[in-house]
Amino acid sequence: MNDDLSPEKIMQLGLGFWGSKTLLSAIELGLYTKIAETGPLDCEALSQALEIHSRSASDFFDALVALGMLNRDQGLYSNTTETDLFLDREKPSYVGGMLEMANHRLYKFWGSLTEGLKNGQPQNEIKSGGEGLFDAVYGNPATLKEFLKGMTGLSMGANVEVARKFPWKEYKTFMDIGGAEGGLTAQVALAHPHITGGVFDLPVVHPFFEEYVESFGLEDRLEFRPGNFFEGFFPKADVLAMGHILHDWNIDEKRELIDKAYKALPEGGALIVIESIIDDDRRENAFGLLMSLNMLIETPGGFDFTGADCQGWLKDAGFRETRSEHLIGPASMVIGIK
Ligand SMILES: C[S@@+](CC[C@H](N)C(=O)[O-])C[C@H]1O[C@@H](n2cnc3c(N)ncnc32)[C@H](O)[C@@H]1O
Repeated sequence: MNDDLSPEKIMQLGLGFWGSKTLLSAIELGLYTKIAETGPLDCEALSQALEIHSRSASDFFDALVALGMLNRDQGLYSNTTETDLFLDREKPSYVGGMLEMANHRLYKFWGSLTEGLKNGQPQNEIKSGGEGLFDAVYGNPATLKEFLKGMTGLSMGANVEVARKFPWKEYKTFMDIGGAEGGLTAQVALAHPHITGGVFDLPVVHPFFEEYVESFGLEDRLEFRPGNFFEGFFPKADVLAMGHILHDWNIDEKRELIDKAYKALPEGGALIVIESIIDDDRRENAFGLLMSLNMLIETPGGFDFTGADCQGWLKDAGFRETRSEHLIGPASMVIGIK
């Protein structure tokens, strides 16, 4: 056997769910929030605070230390700089919402990935006769809040980059189609005081939008337009965005939404599509490709796509100019100018 060859990468990836689930359980148990509240704790105090059995406590905490998700100094466990900033539920920078949803729903649904790969069918609530993703999530206010907070956290990095990189000074009005709580609109409005606009989303999202937008004092410039994007027209604005929308739907639905955006824009107006856009060669953006498998798990026909795919659909809809631009991590935007 070649001495340079090692199964390490294979084993690390294959058993990656051990580490993943350990982190998800730490978030579920509120470990990071507890330590942020109390300060460093020893093993006994931390296990009592989280109601962890004595058999598992030190292995659980020390595994998190070894994974870089907790510090231990002279027997006292404390948050790392990252876990303190991003995993303390009391901080506005909390990104655990998406991970809470991953823990409650996706972790078990991904357990039947092989079945989904074979039959091409969703593996979430739909499988046991339940409704689609949005009905399942939106039927319960607690899951809805978790989902919306999760989306805000997941999209925050990309939203800041869209606010920074898109030429907003050339435009005045903006509507985020399926804009959820208002994560993107708020970042755009904060960075560009001349912009007014808002979010078009399902009526049930309205109170969450109000609370979020008011927390930035942006309620005079941003409004909520309730509606279903498969019924009627999109609201008119100089710039429309769709962030993590198109990947939820099949190709005909994707084209229908792009057509509606085209119709709602003025001449010279812009559509911004934000997703974990897959690289054109489909070999680098692993997160984008796995996100597409997540759409298999979650939706009847959704899939992620490359920048070239999306630019092609925009051109077919009539957009005269299109381009792809990287945002951050796995996220890119595709821009179409009418
Ligand atoms: C995956 S989230 C994306 C949220 C946000 N754009 C982002 O990138 O973080 C999808 C959004 O589409 C909205 N949505 C789903 N179906 C819709 C429909 N038929 N009409 C309007 N909005 C819808 C959901 O309420 C949700 O806010």
